[in-house]
Amino acid sequence: MAKITASVYTSHVPAIGAAMDMGKTQEAYWQPLFKGYDYSKQWLKDNKPDVIFLVYNDHATAFSLDMIPTFAIGTAAEYKPADEGYGARPVPVVKGHPELASHIAQSVIQQDFDLTIVNKMDVDHGLTVPLSLMCGEQDPVKGAWPCPVIPFAVNVVQYPVPSGQRCFNLGQAIRKAVESYDEDLNIHIWGTGGMSHQLQGARAGLINREWDNHWLDLMINDPVACAQTPHIDYVREAGSEGIELVMWLIARGAMADVNGGQVTTALPTVKHRFYHVPASNTAVGHVILENA
Ligand code: DHB
Ligand code: FE
Repeated sequence: MAKITASVYTSHVPAIGAAMDMGKTQEAYWQPLFKGYDYSKQWLKDNKPDVIFLVYNDHATAFSLDMIPTFAIGTAAEYKPADEGYGARPVPVVKGHPELASHIAQSVIQQDFDLTIVNKMDVDHGLTVPLSLMCGEQDPVKGAWPCPVIPFAVNVVQYPVPSGQRCFNLGQAIRKAVESYDEDLNIHIWGTGGMSHQLQGARAGLINREWDNHWLDLMINDPVACAQTPHIDYVREAGSEGIELVMWLIARGAMADVNGGQVTTALPTVKHRFYHVPASNTAVGHVILENA
């Protein structure tokens, strides 16, 4: 059967992708950020998954106000990097896994989560920047991402957005779905976006280092309590875009210690934890967990 063995959590910021694409990673501003991912790049090489299930948010790129799916699963064979206003990032096309994605859609919908099926879409920085951080620079034509990716888009842009609790429950359904797939595949699930940041309004530039780190402690060690964090706490403490963090709870809910909404076995092993302020307007958090 297929199995989720590890989860990866990381912020996304378009400027991080631009810094990589323009060869600026060793500049004084960026160097400390990218150093935080040196361990992760080696870890991913040493623990190469067969498929990455990548939870992220689209930023009005693939979806506009015309259509706003709360949860959308990519079932396509490939996804092109999107043009976000300055042309598409020079990174490889993302290969999908239509068979596994369709199986997960079937199972998760039958577990009463309403997913939107997406057979064609482009993927923006929400998906490509985490891939770049974890895999390093890739030639757009000759290079390739290490394995197929199933994009899973969550609406955290246009209200109403899903609660952390619902995301946590969904993660548990995704793990069940994966474990009912009849092929020995090693799957990693990634939760991306966050941490504290606000891009507009009177509080633009808000960063809350203390709250972020407390939330990370909870997410790792007491995910049941973390899932109960009300929506308004994210917005008040972590800024309007801090709500992207609910996506991390999908990945956390898919880890092996969580069963029936409770932690019933040993917590996952923290392989890596990193926090850096700022990257553009955003606090960057990054964690790697392996099942105990
Ligand atoms: C920034 C952060 C985001 O999450 C995003 O989607 C766009 C920009 C920023 O910090 O610049
Ligand atoms: Fe964002």
